[in-house]
Amino acid sequence: MYIIMLGAPGAGKGTQADILSQEMNLPHIASGDLFRQALEKRTDVGLLAKSHMDKGELVPDEITIKMILERIDQPDCASGCLFDGFPRTLQQAKALDKALKEQGRTIDKAIYIEVPDEELVKRLSGRWLCRTCQTPYHITNSPPKTPGKCDRCGGELYQRSDDREETVKERLNVFLAQTVPILDYYEKQGKLIRVNGNLEMQGVARQIISALTASMSH
Ligand code: AP5
Repeated sequence: MYIIMLGAPGAGKGTQADILSQEMNLPHIASGDLFRQALEKRTDVGLLAKSHMDKGELVPDEITIKMILERIDQPDCASGCLFDGFPRTLQQAKALDKALKEQGRTIDKAIYIEVPDEELVKRLSGRWLCRTCQTPYHITNSPPKTPGKCDRCGGELYQRSDDREETVKERLNVFLAQTVPILDYYEKQGKLIRVNGNLEMQGVARQIISALTASMSH
């Protein structure tokens, strides 16, 4: 299955994609993580992405689409994957559909995780991430067992520079202006599933799994 996780910054796309990727044994393809990894390696794409990410803007479509299409050409994505943070514009959504169609594949479902703005800000300001495996933690909602260390791989935890308050506001504006229109695109194709993301993490995961199970049995 090819599944897209949609939602505002901090809605829990990464958290839910992480849970589903283990449940469904599908690779988790996160555009933001790919940009941050490129930056760690100081590649041209990474440095260019950083200049946009720091301002809360989207990285240009051309660069983002190329990076994701190259990633899904890898053998681990041959029978499905979970997209997290991509697509984020109509142009990206259409480019993804076209590329999958050329190989006889298609998006199965797009899951929209809905969370009120005040909760998004709380989640982002308390978020810590593993520098090595990208597992997300939250200072109060899901703290690591040892402060500053990843439970899974022992990696160092850090806070993202774009989780500062002014940048978060800009990311929310960009989400409303550029990403919300793609909800309609998937709704018209009968692929959109809306879930209440303002519940504890496992509660959100249960909603997603039961909606996917129901849609597969139709
Ligand atoms: P990206 O890395 O994709 O960030 P984002 O979309 O802004 O989303 P986040 O990663 O901030 O949030 P999330 O929804 O994954 O939440 P999470 O699970 O971590 O993009 C960053 C930047 O890269 C963009 O601004 C752009 O510049 C660029 N970019 C990326 N993709 C692009 C694209 N396609 N096109 C162009 N540019 C692109 O959860 C957040 C926190 O809340 C965590 O601490 C978590 O523990 C906690 N939490 C999660 N769920 C719950 C819950 N149910 N209850 C309580 N706490 C919870």
